[in-house]
Amino acid sequence: MSKCYRSELVGAFGCPIDENPTGVMEEAAFREKNLDYRYLTVKVNPGDLQAAMEGMKAFQMKGINLTIPHKVEVLKYLDELSPAAEIIGAVNTVINREGRLYGENTDGKGFIQSLEEEGISPSGKRVTVIGAGGAARAIAVECALAGAVKVTIINREEERGKELVDLLKNKTRAEAQFIPFLSGVDIAQETDILVNATSIGLYPDCDQKPDINYDTITSRMAVADVIFNDPNTQFLAEAKKRGAKVINGLGMLVNQGALNFEMWTGVKAPVDVMKRVLKEEFNLLG
Ligand SMILES: NC(=O)c1ccc[n+]([C@@H]2O[C@H](COP(=O)([O-])OP(=O)(O)OC[C@H]3O[C@@H](n4cnc5c(N)ncnc54)[C@H](OP(=O)(O)O)[C@@H]3O)[C@@H](O)[C@H]2O)c1
Repeated sequence: MSKCYRSELVGAFGCPIDENPTGVMEEAAFREKNLDYRYLTVKVNPGDLQAAMEGMKAFQMKGINLTIPHKVEVLKYLDELSPAAEIIGAVNTVINREGRLYGENTDGKGFIQSLEEEGISPSGKRVTVIGAGGAARAIAVECALAGAVKVTIINREEERGKELVDLLKNKTRAEAQFIPFLSGVDIAQETDILVNATSIGLYPDCDQKPDINYDTITSRMAVADVIFNDPNTQFLAEAKKRGAKVINGLGMLVNQGALNFEMWTGVKAPVDVMKRVLKEEFNLLG
């Protein structure tokens, strides 16, 4: 049999993208599973996405991740969307099915898996999400689709927060409420799961935390952060002090990467390997 010198290609399109760590864990997973795939981290400037998507098809890439600023614009170039991606209105993963491009959003699904790993399900729960950007939208919609009875959005920019609440009311069965993000805002005592889905606390601003009333966090709440490069954010530290169960953002990142891997290759992802290399990358190994 002749040898094949061609690798299957996947990757990420974004701008900025230089510091995106996804390729590290995907390449480690390909090696672990002996798959001849390469993950390309590609800078695609705003305005160049159409050409990039045509190139992706021409190169017969198996799939692509989208990050800032392409997650919404990419919808124009896709043939089909998952039900969740359709509601969220943003795609972070494209799968090339014989030339037909399918869009999925794995951010919220990865988040739900990271809760489930801790024995927590959003079903029947009241979820409070701080933030209304891309990550918050994906998390809020997936929690609602997974059976959360109520989703409360706390956001600084009122219009963005209210738009997400309207989306939840119109497209899911969950009750939804908007609360303006005023300094020292209280967390409702009915909250079962509290999520920081803002970028506050992202490295190098590790000393920052959302300006909420931390004394309204109680030990019966599960408190999660989307920040993935600091497992002990100030937000989580404050919640831990009040006895809450805390979940950092590394699990969400690994799980969404594992979902991408499985959709592109059809092979079960080596999640432990992916988590270990990311911890190495962020110097989180003790
Ligand atoms: N763990 C993972 O796998 C994963 C996956 C995706 C994203 N993330 C992380 O999630 C975070 C958010 O990403 P994104 O894509 O959702 O960003 P985004 O669309 O830019 O949204 C940012 C959100 O943070 C809020 N915010 C930022 N600075 C604030 C401040 N000083 N005070 C109050 N609110 C503030 C914004 O509020 P306004 O609407 O008022 O501006 C908005 O709601 C980032 O840190 C990203 O790295 C993690």
